[in-house]
Amino acid sequence: MSYEERLQNVTVLGAAGKMGSGILLLTAVEMADLMLKPENKSKTFVLNAVDVSKEGLAGLMKYLRTQVLKVAEKKTVPLRKAYADRKDIIENSEIINQYIEDVVRIVHPSTRMEAAYDSTLVFEAINENKDLKIKILSQIDKNNPHKPWFFTNTSSVPINIIDDGVGLDGRVLGFHFYNPPAVQKLVELIVTNQTSKDITEFAKVYAKNLKKVVVPSNDVAGFIGNGHFMRDALHAIHEVEKLSDEMPFEQAVYMINRVSQEYLVRPMGIFQLIDYVGIDVVRFIMQVMNPYMQDEELHSPLLDKMISLNIKGGQHSDGSQKDGFLKYEKGKPVGIYSPEKKEYIAIEDFKAQCDEKLGALPDSVVAWKSVVRMKNKDEVLKNYFNELNVLNALGADLATKYGKRSKEIGKKLVSDNVALNEEDVNTVLMTGFFHAYGPINNYFN
Ligand code: CAA
Repeated sequence: MSYEERLQNVTVLGAAGKMGSGILLLTAVEMADLMLKPENKSKTFVLNAVDVSKEGLAGLMKYLRTQVLKVAEKKTVPLRKAYADRKDIIENSEIINQYIEDVVRIVHPSTRMEAAYDSTLVFEAINENKDLKIKILSQIDKNNPHKPWFFTNTSSVPINIIDDGVGLDGRVLGFHFYNPPAVQKLVELIVTNQTSKDITEFAKVYAKNLKKVVVPSNDVAGFIGNGHFMRDALHAIHEVEKLSDEMPFEQAVYMINRVSQEYLVRPMGIFQLIDYVGIDVVRFIMQVMNPYMQDEELHSPLLDKMISLNIKGGQHSDGSQKDGFLKYEKGKPVGIYSPEKKEYIAIEDFKAQCDEKLGALPDSVVAWKSVVRMKNKDEVLKNYFNELNVLNALGADLATKYGKRSKEIGKKLVSDNVALNEEDVNTVLMTGFFHAYGPINNYFN
C-alpha cells in the first residue's frame, strides 16, 4: 500500500482532547494536500475524528477552522496552484475559504468506535490508561479487516506492552507529539523489536511531511521527554517543600515557578507547565512510569493532595487554561493555591516581598521569547548564565541548582539507555518543550 493509499482512511481516537485535536488538525491538512493533487482528485479521503464527547467534537471543528485559516494564509501561493483549474476562485480570500472547506469536508466527527473499522491508519490519543488503550485497540483490530497500523501518542506506556496486549505483531509504534502539537516541532518515535520496517518508514515520511523533527527513543516508560519532565517537576516540588519550612506554600510555589521560567529562560514556569499539561495527567504519567523505575520513586504526595482537593489544571473545552497550582485570568497567572487555606492567594499580595528575597537578575538577562530564535543565542545565554552562576542571591542559587539537576537528569537518560545520545536529549527539550537551550550544556557545571 502506498503512502497516499494508507492515508485515504484514517481515524484519530480521542480527537477532541488536547493532543488529539492537534493530531487531527495536522493529519487533516496533510490529507487535504494529498487530495488536492491532480492525480488524486477522484479519490476519497476520510478522517474520522472519534471522541466520547459530543461537545468536545463541536469544539474541535471550531478549532480546526481557525487553525486551518492560519495554515492557509501561510501558503496561498501553492494553494493558488492547487486550485488553478477552478476558474470561480480568484481572490486570496476565496482560495483560503475553499481550502478550509476542503479540509473540514474530510473530517467526520463521531462518538462511535465503529468509525475506525474501515481505517488503514489509527492514531490513538486517549487517556493514559494502559488497559483502556489495549481494550479499545483490540476491539478495533478485531473488527477491522485491513490489519490497520496503529500510531499511539502514549506519553508513558511502553509500546511493547501495547503490542503484546493487543497482539499486533509489530503493527504499532509510538508517535509521540508534544503539546500543543500544532506548535511543538517534536515527534518522539518509539519502535520495538517487532515493529515492521514498513510502518517505521511510513512514520518517518509522514513526520517529515508534517515538518516535524523526529527523535528516536528507546521503549522505556516515559521515553525521553517525560523522562526529563517528570524528574524536573519532582525537583521543583522538592524545592517548594524545602522553602515551605520558612515561608507560606504559595510564596514558595511563586518563587520556584519564577526561577524556572525567568531565571532559566524557559517559556513557562514549571508549575504553569504542570497546570498546562494537567496535574492529574502529570500524576498519571508518574504512576505509569513508576513501576518501571529501579532506583527511584516517581511520586509526589503534593500532586495527590492537589487532586484530592479537586485542583487539576488542564484546559477548558474552548482551550483556555483551567486553574491549578496557579489561578489564571486571560491566560496570565494572578494567584497561587494554598492547600492549607483551600483558596487562591493573589500574587500581588506577596510578589514584592518574594522578589526581594530572590534578588535581582543579572543585567544581561534575556526573555525566552526574544532569545529563542536568536542566531547568537549560545553566546547571549553563556554570558547571562556566567553572570547568574556567580551571583550571591537566593534566586540565582535556586536557578543554578535547578539547571544542574536538569543536566543530571538529561545525562541519566543517556546512561539509562533511554536516549541514544546527549544531542537527542537536547533536541527533545528544545523542540518538544520549546526550550531555548538543551539541558546538557556548558552553562551549569
Ligand atoms: N494550537 C495551535 N496554535 C497554538 C496553540 C494551540 N493549542 N497554542 C498556542 N498556539 C500558537 C499561538 O496561536 C501563537 O501563534 P502565532 O505566533 O501564529 O500567533 C503561538 O503558538 C505562540 O503562542 P502565544 O503567543 O500565545 O504564547 P507563547 O509565545 O508563550 O507560546 C506556547 C505558547 C507555545 C505554549 C509556549 O509557551 C510553550 O512552548 N510552552 C511550553 C509548552 C511545553 O512544554 N509543552 C510540552 C508539554 S509536555 C508534553 O506535551 C508531553 C506529554 O506527554 C505530557
